[in-house]
Amino acid sequence: MTHTANKNRYSRDIYNRSGNSGLLLPQVSLGLWHNFGHVDDFETGRETVLTAFDHGIIHFDLANNYGPPPGSAEENFGKILKNDLHPYRDELIISTKAGYRMWDGPYGEWGSRKYLLASLDQSLHRMGLEYVDIFYSHRFDPDTPLEETMTALADAVRQGKALYVGISNYDPDSTRRAAGILEALGTPCVIHQARYSMLDRWVEKGLLDTLDENGIGCIAFSPLAQGLLTNKYLKEIPENSRAANPYGFLQRSAITPGLVKTLNKLNALAARRGQSLAQMALAWVLKDPRITSVLIGARNKEQLLDSFKCIGNTDFSIEELNIIDDLLAEY
Ligand SMILES: NC(=O)c1ccc[n+]([C@@H]2O[C@H](COP(=O)([O-])OP(=O)(O)OC[C@H]3O[C@@H](n4cnc5c(N)ncnc54)[C@H](OP(=O)(O)O)[C@@H]3O)[C@@H](O)[C@H]2O)c1
Repeated sequence: MTHTANKNRYSRDIYNRSGNSGLLLPQVSLGLWHNFGHVDDFETGRETVLTAFDHGIIHFDLANNYGPPPGSAEENFGKILKNDLHPYRDELIISTKAGYRMWDGPYGEWGSRKYLLASLDQSLHRMGLEYVDIFYSHRFDPDTPLEETMTALADAVRQGKALYVGISNYDPDSTRRAAGILEALGTPCVIHQARYSMLDRWVEKGLLDTLDENGIGCIAFSPLAQGLLTNKYLKEIPENSRAANPYGFLQRSAITPGLVKTLNKLNALAARRGQSLAQMALAWVLKDPRITSVLIGARNKEQLLDSFKCIGNTDFSIEELNIIDDLLAEY
């Protein structure tokens, strides 16, 4: 039986325009990098996706290699689409990417035309889709001409396999060049997916200005720094956490005493604002009008709902911003 979606899911206008495009994204989007692979509990992931949709979170972000094993997040999401969300396809914004290693040999990663277009076909097959809404080049390839990578993205649109194109993890200069090529090809770059959180502010050093100048939106990934900017690590490393998990990229060694001290001070400030640390960390990213959406991960629907509550309290006083800057400088 297909899912009967909450009738009130669009009762709040939580959508931002991505740059100058027609693409509208919820302020909070859900990514399936972790927690949705074959190593994870399928029902928990399914519940998280359906809860998101019932709250107006219509954007789901994937990549060819999400799992583990690689590809399994797309397979599981395809199952949810087929069984539950199929009638709602036209309401959904589904993205995927290619750039990191997915299969053996010289064409299993980076930015060649052969890799990108073959990978997109594989992603469509795994998800049971005719097209994705956004197809990204997942990382800049220093050895393939940028024209080749961008033409492959534009051709994905021409072939009807993607509606919009974006780039991820490109520095400001490569972003400017990519945007120029895509513009000339008639398939503008509508979005850049970049890591951005209180603990990683590299986009403030040029990228956000470049995006603004070129009319490109920004979707901020790992806005909770993979869970560090939540109440998880305030005392210890809990067993049911990404840092304790053998599959992920977040290492126990990242959780230093200095960081824990800063997190506790940020948590106290969040409490004064009537927010959880996660909600304040997301609100802090969303306060910048150049940010279209925060792209969160969630282990379960409870985390998703907690994070979602950041919407509606994204204003910060100058005093609060100064306190946050000082705390982050200390760490
Ligand atoms: N383009 C790229 O190169 C790239 C790279 C990385 C990610 N991404 C995208 O960005 C998405 C999000 O990345 P991310 O998973 O690192 O994001 P994140 O939101 O920074 O971290 C998610 C993790 O934070 C914890 N968490 C979330 N909400 C919580 C809450 N309310 N309370 C307590 N803990 C909470 C959970 O950790 P526990 O599991 O420990 O409970 C969850 O798995 C990915 O799924 C992917 O779509 C893109």
